[in-house]
Formats: sequence, structure tokens, C-alpha cells
Amino acid sequence: MSDIQPFRQTVESFIASRGWTPTRFGRTVAGDPLFVFDLREGREPRSETRTRILKAMQEYGETKTRAPMRIGVAGLGNVGATLVSILQKDADSLTKKLGRQIVVTSVAARSRSRDRGVDISGLEWFDDPVALAKSPDIDLFVELIGGEDGPALAAVRAALEIGRPVVTANKALLAKHGVSLARLAEESGAQLGFEAAVAGGIPVIKTLREGLGTASIARVYGIMNGTCNYILTRMGEEPIDFSECLRDAQDLGYAEADPTFDVEGFDTAHKLSILSTLCFGYEIAPDRIHVEGITRITQADIRVAADLGYKIKLLGIAQRSDDGIEQRVHPTLVPKSSAIAGVDGVMNAISLETDHVHELLLAGPGAGGPPTASSVLSDILDIARGAKVPPLGVPSPELLPYKQAPMRAHEGGYYIRLNAKDVPGALAAIATRMAEKGISIESVIQRPDLHVIEPADTDIVTRTVVLLTQDTLESNVREALDLIAADGVIVGRPQLIRIETL
Ligand SMILES: NC(=O)c1ccc[n+]([C@@H]2O[C@H](COP(=O)([O-])OP(=O)(O)OC[C@H]3O[C@@H](n4cnc5c(N)ncnc54)[C@H](OP(=O)(O)O)[C@@H]3O)[C@@H](O)[C@H]2O)c1
Repeated sequence: MSDIQPFRQTVESFIASRGWTPTRFGRTVAGDPLFVFDLREGREPRSETRTRILKAMQEYGETKTRAPMRIGVAGLGNVGATLVSILQKDADSLTKKLGRQIVVTSVAARSRSRDRGVDISGLEWFDDPVALAKSPDIDLFVELIGGEDGPALAAVRAALEIGRPVVTANKALLAKHGVSLARLAEESGAQLGFEAAVAGGIPVIKTLREGLGTASIARVYGIMNGTCNYILTRMGEEPIDFSECLRDAQDLGYAEADPTFDVEGFDTAHKLSILSTLCFGYEIAPDRIHVEGITRITQADIRVAADLGYKIKLLGIAQRSDDGIEQRVHPTLVPKSSAIAGVDGVMNAISLETDHVHELLLAGPGAGGPPTASSVLSDILDIARGAKVPPLGVPSPELLPYKQAPMRAHEGGYYIRLNAKDVPGALAAIATRMAEKGISIESVIQRPDLHVIEPADTDIVTRTVVLLTQDTLESNVREALDLIAADGVIVGRPQLIRIETL
């Protein structure tokens, strides 16, 4: 019986796994550029030819897995320079671990003369990251430039198009183009690693792609932005307001000169959208997330929350429901006793709620050169070992079109802070409207030291009142607040913070 069928399959999978063209296989392995075309048309090679080609494939594989893996790094900032330095410093131990050398051979950045604290004198320099991505002298391309489009996108595409593996830390790029890049990688047989794109040094992508077996995830939530967590933690430790904490975070290098992206919650939304895809198998949808930032959080909110047994954290939360996927980013009251409440400062944490392992909390440094470079390195090592996984957990044609579920009611109720006019009957009017909407009030806090001056405050005397509701629908709360505003008994915009039972 002919063994042409298994032979043909072996050749085809060799070609697909390397992202080669049939002609390249013919030239490099079979010694005949048309060999694969002939094979596909049913021409059966003689048994000695088959034996020769199988041996050549085996030898090629062995040589390739022993040969040094040559890396090209585009972007030599915080993460890129740290990665090059780690790869140089730990070269011997990495070779021992892998049985194969990993060598940075080429780099790209904007300024050739800038001192980056790392020796790049022997490395080939590229001004153009796309040219580096396509260079025939590298085996793997690392993108550490940043930005959702521009040179980062062009270079990553260029590498994947020729079947070259890519590692990136770029969450903005992944959130916007993740599905098309995953498709490109799958078509060309290249690997695409992005462990560092979500929560810096925490190996959450690997856990989701490879570590949970068939466990089904019901909810994922976490603290994914170190800048916001630092600010909220400081506000809890010292009586300083949001703007002062933000200035300190900028002085310490924890916040960008323009912090909007972080403090308004968009960075968390990008990361959440990537996690959500890996958890639930839907296409990435960074624009279909309810997003609220932390800029309106005051000392009063932090103190009242603490007195009631809560901390305020900026959480990204995604959960499956019968109507689709609900994704939201907002400040949240979490019980002080919960594990996530203990994650302070610039630390990040991600919790995965699954049917098999129940709750898994991964916590660690979410940013910074060394933790992020370490995640980039772990992707490089996986690729050097020959790991093959679909970038988004399932092959991209199997991703479901994103189905956005409406915001749901929250089990833990709501924290509402409002400035009531200091007139007889104001509080009674507020309580009446709440009752009309079926909202039960758990606590009412009114202390002179909690007075918050809202921008809309005029010379009208007000008292700041905090209400904690029992479980209720968000629509009920919003309707009650609209009625209260229309009654004219409050001044300014109420503060509304969801309470999560975790
Ligand atoms: N920093 C972190 O803690 C962290 C954490 C997680 C993920 N990330 C992600 O990692 C990536 C890199 O972040 P980073 O903090 O290292 O950024 P960075 O310090 O701003 O470095 C960016 C690098 O890209 C280079 N670059 C910019 N435009 C270029 C172009 N057109 N051609 C070639 N090179 C160009 C810059 O060159 P010059 O140096 O010559 O200007 C610089 O070396 C981003 O996607 C970021 O979101 C960072």
C-alpha cells in the first residue's frame, strides 16, 4: 500500500508550521522548486526520494532548533532597553535552559546616539522598524515601540506576513487590531506573543491560553492600571486630593505627562477587551465598554468608604450573561476583606472566576521595565521552544461576533453622594423619591467634615449626604436621582459608585 498520503501530510505541515511557500520548501529541502506542486497534483515520488526528503526535513528541523535564535528588537525605551540588557546579561543561563542561544542581533529606534544604558555597539542598527521586521537575518521580531497604528502596526504586519514570529507588549495595538493580526499570524503559520500587553509582569495571557484546560470562565475582573491604583491607595493613606496624588505619581514616573488615558479608564478598557476575548471567545471590542475614570473620586468618598468597611478601586470587569458579554470599567467599592482590596500601590491583580478552579487571583507588578521585559522574554522562550498556540486562544475564524450585554444590576448596591440643600424637607424629599423607585437605603451618613464643594455650588448652603443602597437595579437609581434633581433639592451632580460583592 502506498504511504503517499502521510508523506504529503508531513510535507504540508512542515510548510505550514514554518509559514513557508511551497517553492521555498522545494528549494531548501527537496532540491526541486516544483516538488510540492507536483506532489499536490498527485505525482507520487519514488520511495528513495521520499526517504531522502524525510531525512532532509528531520535534519533541517534539528539544525534549526540547535541554531541560535536571532532577535530583532524595535523600540529601545523603558521595556526594549531592559529586554536587551536582560538577554545580554542572562545569555548563558538562557542557553542552558533552552539548549539553544538567544541573541539580539539587530535593533531599531528613533535616535541612534541616545545613551540607553545598554551596549548596542555590536548590533545592526535600523532606522526603519519595518525593514528590521523583514530582515532575513532575524528569526523573531519584537515590537516595543507602542501606539495602536503607525510604525508598530506596519512592522508587526510585515513580520507576520512573511511567517516570522512576533512578540509585542503593545495593548493599544492588540485592542484595535488583535483579531486581524491573529488571523494574519494563523494564515502565515507565525506565532504572536503578547503576554506583556496586559498587566505587565503577571502571566495572565499564558494562564488563559494554556493553563486552565477546559475550565469555563464566568467572570474576569481586576486592577489593571498601576497609575490609578497608586492614586487611590495614596488617597486612602493620606488626606490629599486627586490632583496632588496625580502630580506625585507623575514626579515618580508612575503617570504620563498626559495622564488622560490612564485616569479616565481607557487603558484598563484596552486590557479588559483583550482579556475578555481570551476568556469568552468573542472578537475584541474595546469601544463597547462602559468606561468611567477616577477623576471625580474625593477624599470624602475614600473616607466614608473606609468607615463602612470598603476600599475604592478602579476595576475592569467582564462577565458572561444570557444576553452576551458585559464589559465595564469604573471605580468600585470593594469589601476591605476581599483579596483584591489588599492589592495596593502600583500593583495589579486579575481574578478569574471559573467553574473548575473557582476563583484564581493573579497579582504582581503591572508595569515597569523589568517586569514587562520579563513577560516579553517568556513569550520569546515559548516560541524558541516551538510552542504553537492560537494567539487569541481559539483559531480566529471561531471567534464569535461581539455581543454586548446591557449593564446589569449589582448585588452589592450603590454608594450615592449628593449635596442636599440645607432647607427643611430636603432629606425627606430624597428619601421619598428613593422609596418610590423601590430602593431600600442601608445607611445614611451626614457629617460636617464630609462637605464636598461641587463646581456647580453657588452661595446656596448645602450638606453632603452619603446614601448606601441595598441591592437594586441601576435604572431605578438613575431614575430616582433624575427625579431628585428635578425636585430642586440638590446642587451639582451626584456621585454614584457601584459596590461589588467579590
Ligand atoms: N513601560 C511599561 O511599564 C510598559 C508596561 C506594559 C506594556 N508596555 C508597552 O510596551 C511598549 C513600549 O513601552 P515603553 O514604555 O518602553 O515605551 P518608550 O519608553 O516610550 O519607548 C518607545 C521606543 O520606541 C522607539 N520609537 C518610537 N517611534 C519609533 C519609530 N518610528 N521608529 C523606531 N523606533 C521608534 C523610541 O525610540 P527613541 O528612544 O529613539 O525615542 C523608544 O526607544 C508600549 O506598547 C507600551 O504600551 C509598557
